[in-house]
Amino acid sequence: MPIVRGKQIEVLYSAKQIDEQNMRMAAEIAAQDYDNLIVIAVLKGSFIFAADLIRALHEVKVEPEVEFISLASYGSGTEAGEVRVLRDIESEVKDREVLLIDDILESGNTLKFARELMLERGARKVEVAVLLDKTSRRKADIFANYVGFNCPDYFVVGYGMDVGHAFRELPFVGIVKGDVE
Ligand code: IMP
Ligand code: MG
Repeated sequence: MPIVRGKQIEVLYSAKQIDEQNMRMAAEIAAQDYDNLIVIAVLKGSFIFAADLIRALHEVKVEPEVEFISLASYGSGTEAGEVRVLRDIESEVKDREVLLIDDILESGNTLKFARELMLERGARKVEVAVLLDKTSRRKADIFANYVGFNCPDYFVVGYGMDVGHAFRELPFVGIVKGDVE
């Protein structure tokens, strides 16, 4: 088991497994034949996944515009599930196809908010790609069009995802186990 910051990390999805899923998703996205696609990475958690998925899209000749939005959710575990924009995209989405990229779809509050925001701004179509789908945690009415893995209900870290600002740099998705003796 890898040891990082004095903790044992159990590998849930290896870099190789993630890469295979990214290539599969890119092929599915390419099959859609978008004509003016803009992909929007939802920061911060999606930054590594988005970087890899966008390069996988290049392999299948999809050439999107790339944008970033930073969203914060208040008490994602609570009923309210209120979401706010910390940093917005700069481009117009009107009459365009939007692909939102995020690390995890959990309650769905974050991506439902982002999807509705883009539709309000006149996007022709808004789809969602996530590395991990925790379907058992869903509260909002939203689904992902492209999913890397259906993830069991563990708290995961790595590949962009953190706990207390740590572990984003891991090249795999893992679960934090106990301290090393
Ligand atoms: P939700 O779908 O609005 O509940 O929010 C999902 C967001 O919560 C994800 O984009 C992550 O940033 C964060 N999140 C949810 N589950 C995990 C996890 O297991 N590890 C790290 N971040 C998580
Ligand atoms: Mg996130």
